Amino acid sequence: MTLSTAAAKKSTTEPEYHDVLRGLSEGSVTKHFDPYVDIDWDSPELAVHADDPRWIMPEEDPLGRHPWYKAQPVERQIEMGMWRQAGIAKVGLDFEQLLIRGLMQYLISVPNGDPEFRYVTHEAAEECNHTMMFQEMINRIGHHDVIGMGPVDRKLTMIIWPAVKYFPELFFTMILGGEEPIDHLQKSLLRGGADLHPMVQRVMQIHVAEEARHISFAHEYLRRNVPNMNPITKTVLSVAFPIAMRVMLSMIATPPKEFVEKFDIPDEVMREAYWGSPEAQITKRDVFADVRALVVSTGLMNPVAKLTWRLLGIDGPVSRYRSEPARRAA
Ligand SMILES: [Fe+2]
Ligand SMILES: [Fe+2]
Repeated sequence: MTLSTAAAKKSTTEPEYHDVLRGLSEGSVTKHFDPYVDIDWDSPELAVHADDPRWIMPEEDPLGRHPWYKAQPVERQIEMGMWRQAGIAKVGLDFEQLLIRGLMQYLISVPNGDPEFRYVTHEAAEECNHTMMFQEMINRIGHHDVIGMGPVDRKLTMIIWPAVKYFPELFFTMILGGEEPIDHLQKSLLRGGADLHPMVQRVMQIHVAEEARHISFAHEYLRRNVPNMNPITKTVLSVAFPIAMRVMLSMIATPPKEFVEKFDIPDEVMREAYWGSPEAQITKRDVFADVRALVVSTGLMNPVAKLTWRLLGIDGPVSRYRSEPARRAA
């Protein structure tokens, strides 16, 4: 379903929602991947070489297009690019593990006969495959000092536990806040035709293909449940929503301080790339165009929420169909 048709509706009925879940579950059976069947890890084409210029960070990456990075010697650009690719995979892995834990906890209270059980379990199984796929890629890139989420972020993830039980709409909002930036970045790389290393490219293609379902599910879940929330929690969610998006964007898309220290990246360069420069600000806004459409259609865009979106620098137009800004740019 496109966002434009979804936006026309206020809320999904239970039979409609269950039909969507059955459709998504069928999709998980007919279109799914196994990292150890669908990726030929040992093929010569996928071999990792430390002098391969395809590891240079692409234009689509906020740091990759920064003049400071481009002025580095090629070997340095390659080394940074390898570390960064492994780092993105690692933070993705950390995030997927968190999601799997939350989904398992969520499933405890799903009753017999509810189609949510099957779909959510399919999603968790796919995420398990993604963690293996990401770890395999990190191991092959070979930078063993790569880290994903920092220690503070790891502690922050503890709020997932009470959220799953007492505020599941917030849990699925946080999930979306993690999925959308990764998906946006990967899609812009694939569509932009960046000359990526074939291993990275294959991993991204598989991830984007399966993630489309996960993102649809999070959107459907919120579309189904948010309009029926009580007014107080709904107002809380309307403000927590952009905050969650902004916090998750930092956790997912900004390189950790270990990367900054290892490669001596000046503070000013980091500030411009994440998200001070005009181009970076456009990227940051574009990431959430689909999410803003969801927020508007579910009644989560009140004046206070609108101000919060704006203060966080992630306000902007809503997309009329999924991934509109990325498709236009490509
Ligand atoms: Fe995933
Ligand atoms: Fe996912």
